[in-house]
Amino acid sequence: MFISIKDAMKQGHGKVHLRGWCYRARGSNSLRFIVLRDVTDIIQCVVEKALVSEQVWNDAEKTDIEASIELVGEIKEDKRAPTGYEVKVESLKLIGESVGWPIQKDQSTELLADMKHLWLRSRYMTSIMKIRSTVFGAIHEYFRSKGFYEYQSPIFQATQAEGGSTLFSVNYFGKPVYLAQTWQLYAEPAIFSLEKIYTIAPSFRAEKSKTSRHLTEYWHAEMEVAWANFTDIQNYGEELIKHAVTRVLEKNLEELKILERDVKILEKVRDEPFMRMTYTEAIKELRDKLNIDIEWGKDLRTIEEDELSKLHGHFTIVTNYPKVVKAFYMKEDEKNPDVVHGCDFIAPECYGEIIGGSERESDLEKIKQRLVDMGESPESYTFYLDTRKYGSVPHGGFGMGVERLISWICHLENIKDAIPFPRTMLRVNP
Ligand code: 4AD
Ligand code: MG
Repeated sequence: MFISIKDAMKQGHGKVHLRGWCYRARGSNSLRFIVLRDVTDIIQCVVEKALVSEQVWNDAEKTDIEASIELVGEIKEDKRAPTGYEVKVESLKLIGESVGWPIQKDQSTELLADMKHLWLRSRYMTSIMKIRSTVFGAIHEYFRSKGFYEYQSPIFQATQAEGGSTLFSVNYFGKPVYLAQTWQLYAEPAIFSLEKIYTIAPSFRAEKSKTSRHLTEYWHAEMEVAWANFTDIQNYGEELIKHAVTRVLEKNLEELKILERDVKILEKVRDEPFMRMTYTEAIKELRDKLNIDIEWGKDLRTIEEDELSKLHGHFTIVTNYPKVVKAFYMKEDEKNPDVVHGCDFIAPECYGEIIGGSERESDLEKIKQRLVDMGESPESYTFYLDTRKYGSVPHGGFGMGVERLISWICHLENIKDAIPFPRTMLRVNP
């Protein structure tokens, strides 16, 4: 019966039954050209008044942008048609009218954001969402192939993990609780059972910044592993990104083409080892090569990450950050207590940090002290501290911002297009 446009073009000749939406239409009193789209592609269909019934002609005339239709016709190759094939329509049925489709060419990003529920149908958004689906699938596939269990943490949490300034507080029967910034504190207790675990779940950050990299609700791929050292954690992150890029290159070349994405850099990330350097080396490189005056002990800001990204043209794993700029749970370096075994994966092409991870501190007293230094009360973290009391093991993990990865893979101007309905400080609608 009905086949996809792609399959119809593979068939290449003979009768086809197609259904989908009108991508665009034009015509005269006697002829109507309807470009039909479905999830697979677009194809030009031509209706000739003299050759069809009155009912069919009426429906064809009413078929305007984004109307849904079913049709039957003869397909043949036609070099002049947009995708190289044309269907001569024998019958056509209007299923759902579309009057006054509100999106025209070259509209402002603001209007497209207001119309996101409709803009999802664009070839641009469709391509991104297909790639997004590949990326999610690849993350599951990677971790499962490495023997990880999928594990879920609560979203309502009584404590913080990534700093108080980006917490969303929710009124929980009269008491404040927070939306998860990370699964981590609830993941660490589970490695004592499952050893290797991962999740893909929403994380929430009350980001007051209006950058092209920040969402308030994003999908977070996180992992935690028992018996792992700092290098293991970096290796997993590198392999995960390579695996996701490999799958996108296998499955989504057409989409990357629609997005006009240069795939050379994706191939390089797939094929070449990531660069690795310490924070101290990164600072030195920025100073020596670019004369950037950055004080040791300050976190890398967007501009510094971007300069590294431009210098290297590849993923760079920056390790051993100053303790003062990183989270309380990161392991202190044995040789230098001023730095921690934390790492950030900085993407090429100025897409910033895609993965943040670390080996975890195992010394109970050190963790307590760092909580106190942050103004937190260790009693609230009893459940977490117990992980270091009963059979603690070396372990670590990381979190990857899935939209950050998608944004880079697709070379998007803004992370907001990496997710169908973005939530930011300024937008919760539609
Ligand atoms: O570096 P972050 O804050 O690390 C953690 O949350 C750790 N607890 C993860 C772990 O070890 N399990 O966040 C991890 C990643 C960042 O590298 C970034 O890609 C993404 O989450 N991210 C955001 N993505 C979109 N919008 C935001 N506001 C984000 N904040 C962080
Ligand atoms: Mg981080």
